[in-house]
Amino acid sequence: MILPIIAYGDPVLRKMGEDITKDYPHLDELIADMFETMYHARGVGLAAPQVGLPIRLFIVDASPFDDDEDDQPEIKNFKRVFINARILEESGKEWPFAEGCLSIPEVREDVNRKANVKISYYDEQFNHHEEEYTGVLARVIQHEYDHIEGKLFIDKISPIKKRLIAKKLDAITKGLVRPGYKMKYPAVKKKK
Ligand code: NI
Repeated sequence: MILPIIAYGDPVLRKMGEDITKDYPHLDELIADMFETMYHARGVGLAAPQVGLPIRLFIVDASPFDDDEDDQPEIKNFKRVFINARILEESGKEWPFAEGCLSIPEVREDVNRKANVKISYYDEQFNHHEEEYTGVLARVIQHEYDHIEGKLFIDKISPIKKRLIAKKLDAITKGLVRPGYKMKYPAVKKKK
């Protein structure tokens, strides 16, 4: 089932995500719905707060980056579920990458982040993993990880750039920006 994606301005995007347990209600269904929602919106990552749940769960499928990243063959079919993730270490040089977010449609800005990330997480079977990522994979993981910490990529852009997109952000909250996927806007009352 395709879920509505929560638009910028909703307080759920600002909540610190909580850990979940194996018996979280309908977890398999939630993960399947999140993948369906992400593919429908042509995203490469989606975090639970973006579908209204302030929990430490996000998914990644970086295959769309496969074309332009020949130097990273592991991107192909990189599909993962990250549960109760904790970033253990970020290292390397900061580099800029134009990020976007399904909750903030039509906004794309360069964000600087460190090149490597070491992360601890559980997969959908609750097996524990500790892995290191670099390049675009690290980038997608860092972006999604921010979501479960209540952070957004626009927090990391300069005040000047933030001022330039302020009107756009306001329009998103009000439901005046309509991407080609279902969204839930905080400033729009649901019609019955
Ligand atoms: Ni995002």
